[in-house]
Amino acid sequence: AGSGKFFVGGNWKCNGTKDSISKLVTDLNGAKLEDDVDVVVAPPFVYIDQVKNSLTDRVEISGQNSWVGKGGAFTGEISAEQLVDIGCKWVILGHSERRHVIGEDDEFTGKKAAYALGQNLKVIACIGEKLEERESGKTFDVCFRQLKAFADYVTSWENVVIAYEPVWAIGTGKVASPQQAQEVHAAVRDWLQKTLSAEIASATRIIYGGSVNGSNCAELAKQEDIDGFLVGGASLKIMVLLLVLQGPEFATIVNSVV
Ligand code: G3P
Repeated sequence: AGSGKFFVGGNWKCNGTKDSISKLVTDLNGAKLEDDVDVVVAPPFVYIDQVKNSLTDRVEISGQNSWVGKGGAFTGEISAEQLVDIGCKWVILGHSERRHVIGEDDEFTGKKAAYALGQNLKVIACIGEKLEERESGKTFDVCFRQLKAFADYVTSWENVVIAYEPVWAIGTGKVASPQQAQEVHAAVRDWLQKTLSAEIASATRIIYGGSVNGSNCAELAKQEDIDGFLVGGASLKIMVLLLVLQGPEFATIVNSVV
């Protein structure tokens, strides 16, 4: 891990019911979480209020997306103001599922980040290459292009965490090796230094996402430029070791801080 405070986010995506979320919250409330870690969960919008009213304040809440500007006649959208109103401190923007399944582009994503920051939300800004882009040697080009689109609109980086999530590693069980992840994280930090400033490069946390679990997090967390994780599937699970239930797998990942 680098110099910033370790950060672990759980992205619950479009999963859960009132009952399963109530169980997850109970398990999280009962888990021991290391002090020196920022811990955030991103429930589906419709369950944010339930989570806000039942989860320990130790864990902050994030939206999984927000509208690009002020709310109004935008059917199906949720505004940054509404996320703030309901108690969210964070929003995830540019997630690969928004980019590649829903079709949101770099510029739209950059504008969303600037708008959300302007409403006092902190932003988890996601970047990452697809498999064919990695295989054709374009990993850095893609990540830098996506970063530039954030940088074109974002004026203060204080409230931004960058999440490197290679698309081929998301939900596939094919985690990036610690070396693969470290290589991109170091390149991202270098880009921040050259493009923005040395201060921003050292202060901005760069977290990794893509098939992180309770068994692979420790090796990843040791890497110099990995400052935490954005966890999907494993943030919904209970860990079982030697046939004994160990509590939320997410807590094991939070506690991988070194
Ligand atoms: O945002 C987290 C995510 O995309 C990673 O998902 O299921 O591979 O941990 P998963």
